[in-house]
Amino acid sequence: MPTVLITGANRGIGLEFARQYAADGWEVLAANRTPFKPMDIVELGPGARELRYDGLNEASVADVATRLRGHAIDVAIMNAGIDDGKELAPEEIDEAHWQRMMLTNTWAPFRLATLIEENLKAGEKKTLVEISSLAASNGTYAGKRHFTYRASKAALNQLWRSLAMEWKPWGCICLALRPGREQTRMLDNAGGPTPEESVSAMRQVVENATSEQSGMHINYDGTSVPW
Ligand SMILES: NC(=O)c1ccc[n+]([C@@H]2O[C@H](COP(=O)([O-])OP(=O)(O)OC[C@H]3O[C@@H](n4cnc5c(N)ncnc54)[C@H](OP(=O)(O)O)[C@@H]3O)[C@@H](O)[C@H]2O)c1
Repeated sequence: MPTVLITGANRGIGLEFARQYAADGWEVLAANRTPFKPMDIVELGPGARELRYDGLNEASVADVATRLRGHAIDVAIMNAGIDDGKELAPEEIDEAHWQRMMLTNTWAPFRLATLIEENLKAGEKKTLVEISSLAASNGTYAGKRHFTYRASKAALNQLWRSLAMEWKPWGCICLALRPGREQTRMLDNAGGPTPEESVSAMRQVVENATSEQSGMHINYDGTSVPW
C-alpha cells in the first residue's frame, strides 16, 4: 500500500487529496492543525492516520518527524497555507503579517520537507509536492495586491527548485503544483474547477511525473506555468 503525507488535510484541497488517496487504498498520513470532523474520519476509513501538526510551531513539526521515523513515504504533499491580507495596501503590510505569511507558506513546508528526507528516500515514488499558485508566477500574474501571498509562494517555488537539484542524486521528484482557482474557503467558495476535479487532475500529474519535471511549476492539467 503506497503512503501519502498531506499537510492541512482537514479541509479544502488537502481534505480532497486525503479522500481520493484513501478511496484508492493508499495509507494517508494527515498532518493537521485542526482535527478531522468525525464524519470525515468515517469516510476516510482505517487507512488514514492523523498527526497533530502546526507548521508555525517547531516542536510540533519536529514531533511529526519523530513519529514518522522509519516510515516510508511515497508522496508528500505540502498543502497547508494561508492567504491572509489579500487586500492590504503596501503601506499596511507590517512585519508581523510578513512573518506569518512567510513562515506559514514558505518556511513551514520547506522545514517539514527537510525533516522527512529519509522517509521519502525509503518510499518508492520519492515525490515531494508543494501546492503553489499562479500568483507565484512573475510573468503571467496580473492580479492586484496579494503582496505577501505572491512573495511567499514565489519563494516556495524557488526552494522546491533548489531541492530538486539538491535531492536529484537520490531520485527525488520535486513538484510545484498549481491547483487552479478552486472553490474552497480560501477563495470564498467561488472560482474555477471544483476541488474534486482539480485534485483528481493533480493526482494524475503526480502519478505520471518524471525526473525531467522535477523543479518545475506545473498546472493541475499538466501544462507548465511560466516562472
Ligand atoms: N483554493 C485555491 O484556489 C488555491 C489556489 C492556489 C493555491 N492554493 C493553495 O492550496 C493550498 C490549500 O488551499 P485551500 O484552498 O484548500 O485552503 P483552505 O481551505 O483555507 O485550507 C488551508 C489549510 O491549511 C491549513 N493551515 C494553515 N496554516 C497552518 C499551520 N500553521 N499549520 C498547519 N496547518 C495550517 C489549514 O488548517 P486549519 O483548518 O487549522 O486552519 C487548512 O487545513 C494552500 O497552500 C493554498 O495557498 C489554493
